[in-house]
Amino acid sequence: MNSSIFGPTYQEMLHPEVLTASIRKQAEAARANELDPYNLFNISWKDFDNKVRHVLLPRELTGVEANIIVLVGREFPSGSHKVGPAYSTLLESELAGEIQPGESTIIGPSTGNFGIGVAYISKLAGYPAVVIMPEGMSSERYQRIRNYGGQLDLTPGSESDVILVLERTEHYKKDSRNKVLAQFELLPNYRFHRFVSGGSALEAAKAYGNGGVAAFVAAPGSAGTLAAGDEIKAAFPEAVVCALEPRECSTLFNNGRGTHRIEGIGDKMVTLIHNVLTTDYVMLIHDDDCVLGLELLQHQQKFVEAALHLRANALQFLRGIFGISGICNIVGAIRTARLLGLGAGENVVTIATDGFDRYPSVLEDLAQRRGPLTETMLAGEFERIFRTASAADLLDVRGPQEKQRLFSYKENFWTKFGYSLAYLESMKSQSFWENEYGKIGDIDATHTHARRIMALAT
Ligand SMILES: Cc1ncc(COP(=O)(O)O)c(C=O)c1O
Repeated sequence: MNSSIFGPTYQEMLHPEVLTASIRKQAEAARANELDPYNLFNISWKDFDNKVRHVLLPRELTGVEANIIVLVGREFPSGSHKVGPAYSTLLESELAGEIQPGESTIIGPSTGNFGIGVAYISKLAGYPAVVIMPEGMSSERYQRIRNYGGQLDLTPGSESDVILVLERTEHYKKDSRNKVLAQFELLPNYRFHRFVSGGSALEAAKAYGNGGVAAFVAAPGSAGTLAAGDEIKAAFPEAVVCALEPRECSTLFNNGRGTHRIEGIGDKMVTLIHNVLTTDYVMLIHDDDCVLGLELLQHQQKFVEAALHLRANALQFLRGIFGISGICNIVGAIRTARLLGLGAGENVVTIATDGFDRYPSVLEDLAQRRGPLTETMLAGEFERIFRTASAADLLDVRGPQEKQRLFSYKENFWTKFGYSLAYLESMKSQSFWENEYGKIGDIDATHTHARRIMALAT
């Protein structure tokens, strides 16, 4: 089809049920062949029964009264919800006339999933793609990018060395034929997550408890996903948004920087598209808790079921749906419920960005580092990871002093990449974010028009 314009509007990603029956049928058939362009219409949290893909964690597992609802991202084309911002950014660039198949090369700075999404979308839309990412990420990620025909440009280090990726990106920006899909900077990422992920989170929560959302919890990488919190707050102003960080790289918490094991998050910066106005809390999570938590829910389910007196296979529905950051998010959601005293009937929503398929090597590494885990060790780890929460790990960032600290971090960082103080100043007002969000109607209208013209021409 050679254009992302062929794909869905924002409205159609949130509500794929509005697509024609014929497109829906072709999209469903396309799931058998990843590279069928009709998969663009599968960029949605919804399945073919129009249900938001999610799970409700069993209370026996969480140990809290509040409902912990997890949106499941691994069913998105390319295996993670990061394909959504990749598509939206490419699409908006095409609609703005900045790029054209056959003329432009797409550049995806990433730590993995966004890069996978960029390579995938570029392949479907007919563009060559270069993914810039650190050399120390899980091997499954590089393989996916190569499978989609993406070229890799690797920078030294791992997850928390994204700054080197951004610096390398500057080099590509010098050639006008290159289009950088800058997930940390460009607002389609905000728009996709606020409108599509936020709207889907609200829809999923309707079926549980009081039908509202008391808290939205997510570990930011680009902080795109966190934008869902803005949509949730628009519907439920009392809702709180909690951003999770690796204890080993506590940038939002206390300007800390370090290396860690939670791929996709904790990138040593306050990203440009992070609306810090609506982030209420920051919580630290130990990176190895997430790796061990994944081991418990992926490989040690029988042990966990027995320890929780659950019937055999009661947790099987959770197998495969979490990556490391997904475990970080559920652990953070449970601890948020515990520390904020959220009770029965209240809903906490979080997200599993990708599934286990891209982390077997990480659990193999755990086995090498830790050796065999005895039942006593597993019981101790379970208790610590899923049942304990320390108030010292939760920082309230609602006050003016904390907001100022986050704004200052953002300014110091992004002025180095050419952003003006005036632009950064404008981001300190909620109206900036409402204005960006408000563009969705016009973008969808332009898109629908362009798609009609394209259809007439083919
Ligand atoms: C596995 C994983 N989890 C979480 C995130 C963070 O999502 P966001 O960039 O929307 O903050 C990413 C981002 O790439 C990711 O790959």
